Amino acid sequence: MGNASTGGEAGAAAEEDLGGRYPAKGRRRDMSLPQLARFTGEGGEKAHAYVGLRGEIFDVSNALDKENLTETYGAWFGKNKEDVDEEELENFRAKFVKLGKVIEQRVISPEELATATGEAGAPIYIAARGLVFDVSSGESFYGPGGGYHLFAGHNAQRALALMSLKPEDVTNTSLDGLDPKDLKILDDWIDKYYLKYPLIGTLSDSGAPKESDAENTPDVDAKKDEEVDNDDDAAKDDDAAKDDETAQDDDAVKDDEGANVEKVDE
Ligand code: HEM
Repeated sequence: MGNASTGGEAGAAAEEDLGGRYPAKGRRRDMSLPQLARFTGEGGEKAHAYVGLRGEIFDVSNALDKENLTETYGAWFGKNKEDVDEEELENFRAKFVKLGKVIEQRVISPEELATATGEAGAPIYIAARGLVFDVSSGESFYGPGGGYHLFAGHNAQRALALMSLKPEDVTNTSLDGLDPKDLKILDDWIDKYYLKYPLIGTLSDSGAPKESDAENTPDVDAKKDEEVDNDDDAAKDDDAAKDDETAQDDDAVKDDEGANVEKVDE
């Protein structure tokens, strides 16, 4: 698994006229609140500090040591503040680069996931541990013809954990029987995705109720059990992700964002 920036968005951003604003340190992207929460400005000179104001995310990282920013706005770092007046919002727009917007989390059904393969203009989603990421900006990896296209529109957790490109490890989504070291690899992938791609929501254990559910084949039942398991994982993962934010986040951000920053600086 690589660490460097791979999205195609860097080039366009690099040529942007910043109009006197502080350059952004992070890469342009929309993100969910749990992702935003990772960017609190802690971690020394590589720190990233993002502020959400009425859903617009500003990168204030490069102004951290100026203007008493931390003193004045430190409490807002990593959060989205809705009760902000127009003047303050304009102030941020004038000074800082907008990275993207806050995305609402939603529940994604397996059926919807399955359509998000990048074909015919569809977005590309990948699920793991019940979390669904929109990896469309990694189209060269996951889009049609990409080396990892088999993950597109799938719960790829088993394959990611096992570093496997075998179709059967994508069809089988169970984490049963995997070693702790495999699960660590999976969590590293999820960490990477957290920093790189919008987390759009969680995977539901089943789609819209269907008549045919009543006469499920054993296969479908097996699948259902698995998905229930995944859901449990998702709940755990949310907590784990929160803990990570304090425990490991700094390193993760430094590693991954640091790598991105080198290439993506605007
Ligand atoms: C000979 C073996 C492999 C080589 C040389 C290799 C190389 C690479 C390279 C150079 C990248 C781009 C990294 C970047 O720019 O961020 C990449 C990305 C990736 N690799 Fe591999 N890879 C190999 C095997 C695998 C296997 C077995 C998996 C199975 C899970 C895998 C999963 C991925 C994924 C998911 C990405 C995309 C990461 C993203 O979304 O940023 N790779 N690989």
